[in-house]
Amino acid sequence: MRNKIVAGNWKMNLSFEQALQLANDLNEYVAHHPSTAQVVIAPTSIYLQAIQETVDNDYITVAAQDVAAAEKGAYTGDVSAEQLDSIGINCAIVGHSERRAYQHESDAIIAQKLEQLFAKEITPIFCIGEKLEEREADKHFEVVKSQVLNALQPQKVENLTKVVIAYEPVWAIGTGKTASPEQAQEIHAYIRSVLKDAFGEDLANGTSILYGGSVNAGNAEELFAQPDIDGGLVGGASLKVEDFSKIIAAIK
Ligand code: PGA
Repeated sequence: MRNKIVAGNWKMNLSFEQALQLANDLNEYVAHHPSTAQVVIAPTSIYLQAIQETVDNDYITVAAQDVAAAEKGAYTGDVSAEQLDSIGINCAIVGHSERRAYQHESDAIIAQKLEQLFAKEITPIFCIGEKLEEREADKHFEVVKSQVLNALQPQKVENLTKVVIAYEPVWAIGTGKTASPEQAQEIHAYIRSVLKDAFGEDLANGTSILYGGSVNAGNAEELFAQPDIDGGLVGGASLKVEDFSKIIAAIK
């Protein structure tokens, strides 16, 4: 059985006070509404430690939004896997399309980041997804295949079982446009077939693949009901406990 996961990516939102409040409210919700899903929240890095201390780690996993590609040293502004590990963080998002776009992160950089996370046994939520023009040109299958293979093929085989994949079509992120459940299922099944061809059936069947891109309280249930969708990576709708709790409850 694959893990079901609902992850909230808070991005560069919320004051410290608001973040603590949201973490508390969510902790309260999850404590009273046990879910089959693993609930993950990814606050901005300077809040990680305080949020980690606020929530009950049996209920909520606190994740970093990114990690440095290098191990340590003169990389101003970056946060290493070792530093995350040193404050007890065991999950991190990597390869988010916003970082690919604004920080020009290549598949090769993302592969290095994955290596850093594996070295510290931090679970990566590894994001992939095509841009609008790539989907319109019918290149989405090709794009996600190369994103998956370029980042995962350089890894040690024994580490691959730790990866969670998040498929997030760039045209659906923060736009209010969601992939239809059929579109999402089609590409999730395809991603699983890419994993199967490259790394074998066991890995393909065991890897959780989340959908992301304008997931909300209204569309989550139908998306999560698809056989190859194992949960969601949620941006905007993870910032309000009323919405995010409905998305968690949509996991059956
Ligand atoms: P969104 O963001 O839910 O606001 O579209 C998703 C993401 O970027 O992870």
